[in-house]
Amino acid sequence: MPNNTTLNTVHSIGSVKARSVAAPHRVIAFWHTMIGKKVVMAATGIVLIGFVIAHMIGNLKIFHGPTEINAYSRFLREVGWPALGYGELLWMVRIVLLVCVTLHITAAVQLSRMSWAARPIEYRLKRNLETTFASRMMRWGGALLVVFIVFHLLHLTAGVVGFHAGQFRHLAAYQNVMAAFAVWPIAVFYIVAMAALCLHLDHGIWSMLQTFGWITARNEKTLKAVSRVVALIVFAGFGSVPVSVLMGWLH
Ligand code: HEM
Repeated sequence: MPNNTTLNTVHSIGSVKARSVAAPHRVIAFWHTMIGKKVVMAATGIVLIGFVIAHMIGNLKIFHGPTEINAYSRFLREVGWPALGYGELLWMVRIVLLVCVTLHITAAVQLSRMSWAARPIEYRLKRNLETTFASRMMRWGGALLVVFIVFHLLHLTAGVVGFHAGQFRHLAAYQNVMAAFAVWPIAVFYIVAMAALCLHLDHGIWSMLQTFGWITARNEKTLKAVSRVVALIVFAGFGSVPVSVLMGWLH
C-alpha cells in the first residue's frame, strides 16, 4: 500500500504532467499556430531585410575605390573595440542572422505543410489552380536564395570556391569582388539571384505588413508601391556591382 507521501508525490507529478500537456508555455503554443509562424516569419524578415539593406549600402562603397571598401571590410571586424575583441561583434551579428534565417525557413516550411494539410482532398488534386503563383514563387525563390547564400559565403567570405589558389585575400574585398565577377557565369548567377531576392522582397515585405495588420483600405496601394520600390532598390544596388565589373566600369 502506498503511504500518503507517495500518493501526494504521484499526484503532484501527475498534475504537473497533465498541466504541461494541457498548457504548454505560451510562446511554444503560439509557435504551433499559423499566426504564430507568420509573426515569426515577419519578425525575422525585418531583421533580414535590415541586414540586406545595410549590406547593399556597404557594397556600394566599391564605387569609391579599393581603399574605402577594404577599410570598410576591416571596420566590420574592428567595430566594438576596445569593449569587444577583433571580429566579436561580427560574430554576434552572424549568430543573430543564422538564428533568423533558420527560424524564417522553418516557419515557412511548416506553414506550407499546415496550409496543405488543411485543404480538402479535391483541392489538393487541383494543386496548380489552388497554389497561387506568389506562394510558389516564394518557395522556389526562397530555395534559390538559400543556395545563393551558401555559395556566397563559401565564395566571397571564405574564398574556398570560385577563385584560383592564392587569389582570394582576407580583407581585400575590392580585389576579391573584381576577381570574382571577372568569371562571367558567376556574375550572371549573382544577378539572377538578386532578381530572385527582388521578387522575394516584393511579396515578402507586403506579407509582413499584412501580418502586422498595418495595411488598411487607404494605405494599401501606397504600401504595395513601397514594397516594390524597396525590392527594386535592393536589386539595383546589389546588381550594380557584378554588372559594373562585367561592363568594365570598375577597374
Ligand atoms: C552582388 C551582390 C553581393 C556582393 C557583391 C556581396 C559581397 C560580399 C562581400 C565582399 C562579402 C565579404 C565581406 C567581408 O568579409 O569583409 C560578403 C559577405 C556576406 N554577404 Fe554578401 N554580397 C552580395 C549579396 C549578398 C546578399 C543578397 C546577401 C544575403 C541575402 C549577402 C549576404 C552576405 C553575408 C551573410 C555575408 C557574410 C558576412 C560575414 O559574416 O562576414 N550578400 N558579401
